[in-house]
This record gives sequence, C-alpha cells and structure tokens, in this order.
Amino acid sequence: MEYRPKFHFSARKGWLNDPNGLLWDGAQYQLFYQHNPHHCNWDSMHWGHATSTDLLHWAHLPPMLYPDAPYDKHQSGGCFSGSVVQHEGALYLFYTGALSDPTVQTQNLAISRDGGKTAQKYSGNPIIAAPPQGMSQADFRDPKVIAYGGSWYMLLATHTGSNQQDGEGRILLYRSADLLHWDYISVLFGSAHYGSMYECPDLFPMGEQWVLSFSPMYHPEWHQSVWLLGDMDFERGVFTVARAGRTDYGFDYYAAQSYPDQNGQIQSIGWMGSWPWMPWFRGYGPTEQEGWRCALSLPRSCALDRAGRLCWQPARAVESLRRQEQCAEHLELRAVPVGLDGGENCYECSLMLRRSALGEGIRLTLFAEQERGLTLDILPDTLLLSRARADGYGTGTAQAPLYWEDGAICLRIIVDKSTVELFAGEGAVCMSANVYPREGQSGITLRALGEAAQVQRLSLWQLDETKEAQ
Ligand code: FRU
Repeated sequence: MEYRPKFHFSARKGWLNDPNGLLWDGAQYQLFYQHNPHHCNWDSMHWGHATSTDLLHWAHLPPMLYPDAPYDKHQSGGCFSGSVVQHEGALYLFYTGALSDPTVQTQNLAISRDGGKTAQKYSGNPIIAAPPQGMSQADFRDPKVIAYGGSWYMLLATHTGSNQQDGEGRILLYRSADLLHWDYISVLFGSAHYGSMYECPDLFPMGEQWVLSFSPMYHPEWHQSVWLLGDMDFERGVFTVARAGRTDYGFDYYAAQSYPDQNGQIQSIGWMGSWPWMPWFRGYGPTEQEGWRCALSLPRSCALDRAGRLCWQPARAVESLRRQEQCAEHLELRAVPVGLDGGENCYECSLMLRRSALGEGIRLTLFAEQERGLTLDILPDTLLLSRARADGYGTGTAQAPLYWEDGAICLRIIVDKSTVELFAGEGAVCMSANVYPREGQSGITLRALGEAAQVQRLSLWQLDETKEAQ
C-alpha cells in the first residue's frame, strides 16, 4: 500500500506536526512546520520549510530552524511552534525554545533577510524570558504574532496550577512596536472550561469581530480544536466572547493556524494529528515504513455561515483536481449496501441529501472491504464517524451535529490515500481522520439504516494531483 497523501502536505522524510506559519510573500507561499528530519518520531524539533504557488504542489527545502542554541537545544524539546510575519522585506520567525530537565520554555526570534533561504537567530534571544507571575514557565509557548493598528501583538499559551486537573489554560497578550521588545498586556482569555492548556492560540478578524482559536489539552470532553467569536479590545487586551464552537469534530485536526491567502482572504491549515500521536504512542500507523509520519490538512477558507457560526470549505484549488465525474440522481437505498469503486483512495464524494428522504439514516462506508471500513452514519440530527473497524490503529466514534439547510444538506468528503476530511453544508461541521487501509480496502458503500432512504444526488470524482487538465 502507498499511504502518502497526494495533495496534502507531508514532510518528505521524518516527523511533522503543527503548521508554524504560512504566508504569501508576493511570489509564492512559504510554509513552516514542526519537523524532525532525522526519524519519524516527535523529538528534537526543527522548523521544516516548503514553498508552493497553489498550496497543493510543494517544493521541499532544508529545515529553516535547527535546535542548536543554548535555549532550544534539547532532544525532548527544540524549536517549538510559533508563527511568521513579513516586515520591511524580512521574515520574522517567532518560536518557543524548549528545554527539558527542568522544562523551561522561552520565546525567541530568528530573522531571514534573504527571502526565506536562511534565518539567523537573534542575538537578543530570548525575547521573552519568563511569563508573568503565577503562570507556568514549563508550558509557556506557541507565539502567534499579528499586526493591528500600527502595533504588533503576540498571543502565548500558558496556564495556572499544573498542566493537569488543577490547572487552567491562559492565553496571554503582548504588544511590541519593533518586533524585538515585547510588553505584557493582559490575560486575553482564561477559563477552566476548556482544559488546562490552550496550545497554539490564534487570533484573526471575521467581519467586525475577531476569532480566538486554540487547541486545548485535557478538555473535559476531549475537544481538540475550538473557536471563540467575539469583540477584541486591543488597547485594554480584552476579548469578549459572543459565541463558541468547534473547528473540527473528527479525530485528527489540531493546532490550526490562520493566514491570509494571496487575495487577502483568511484561510487556515491544521495538523492532521493530535496528542495520541505524541512520543508515548510510538509506532502509530504504518507510514514509518515509507519514511514519513503525519500530514497537514487541506487549506480551508473560513467565513461565517447563515446562522453566524464559523465555517470552513476546502480551498477552491482542490476542485481543480477533480477528474472523471460519476454521478447518480435519486439513488434509492435499502438495507443491502450499494457499492462504488474508490479506485486508489484519492477521490471526492459528495452526497446531496434531504431530511424528508433520509428515513432512519444512511451508512456510508469508506475504505470498505468485507467487514472493514470507516463508517459515517448520517442520522436525522447527528453525524457519527467510526474508525473502530477502519484499520486496526484508530479506535472510537466521533460525533457532530447535522445542521440542515432548508431541509437539505450537501456532504463533501475528500479522501487522499490515508487522510479523510468531511465538510457538511456551509462547513460549520468538519470532521478529519487518518485511516491506513490494507490492500483491497478501497470500496465505497451506502445503505439505509432503516428500511429505505434516498440520496438526491451522489457525485464521485477521482482526484488527480498532476497539473495537466485532462
Ligand atoms: C502542539 C504542540 C505545541 C508545541 C509543539 C511541539 O501540537 O504541543 O504546543 O509548541 O507541539 O512540537
């Protein structure tokens, strides 16, 4: 089997986790990401680097940051997550230097003045050596820098207590005039409600309001990526929450980071992984045999849906990969499955459904072969994604609400070898999962969960990453 996705980004060799900055530099996208180029497990974090003009085809470059300074050189640490901004022709790379035994995390800067070919660590590092009193220095990380109103702002994740049951996550806000000197402003957000540490915080505008997003650790219900929509007062450093939701309801979506695309539209990209992938779970999935582990999600554009929830769609460029449409209208389903061929497990399947014709529901199985497969149960008010029988690696069932739109919904499911991303309707519900099928697990089946159900329209496109149109 070949597991490497064709149009999701994966490191050519070694381990990958969070995106650490994605920017359009005027000529191309530059992507930075958490990376271990030496082997397929998480340790000695570097910043990987790649460029692209369309976010689907990538040129792999040597790592941009190596863990080689006194404040970041450690096997159980390194150059942890952060973000990149462009200023006066230079790239400013903000990252956390992580040391272990004892665990100390500080904020650091590297500057690239040659358009992203090389970066030099700033001689004044660390630029932020310690958190304010009462906050954890052991978990003090993930600087996200944005520009607003003539100043620079940085978000940082930390917590009070410990990073366990007695801890509460905090997002801190700092301000700078020159990107080098930073003043602490406030605790921008903090609550026990979301767990003990809010990793990879991000802040981006959405209409008149702002979105604060992060990936919680020890969330009471194990939500891995959440968003808050609200009002942002940069002067006082106060974020007032108006609405909250989940960025993704699946198993494998974490540490999402926003970026303006080349047209200035907000998009975001996440790590298709989560905490169970970390060192304690060595050997997860078979991709190590191919010399790589973990991928990034598709780039997703972000907007508000008609109900005022944040919603995502795969970047439009993905549609350019569609080939060979197969389509069926008014497909009548019974309890006996109807089968389609998923080819090389590189396809987009879209289902147009009506609530009035759903009956008790529909079961869609991807990577189907006999009893095996990833199942999606489409119930009247709920989506259930189960990987219990998918591949012998993943377990569990993820649940999401189903928001009908005038009694109808379109589910888009994009499969790329070992990654699956689902977008429901306008995209307030997304679900992501990795699946490692064995040889022959490439069927797609549909059946009614009750006596009968109807799919209004089913479309299946093979997706081809080659640039030539067919
Ligand atoms: C999130 C995270 C970050 C950290 C990085 C280390 O996946 O734990 O908080 O900076 O990974 O690789």
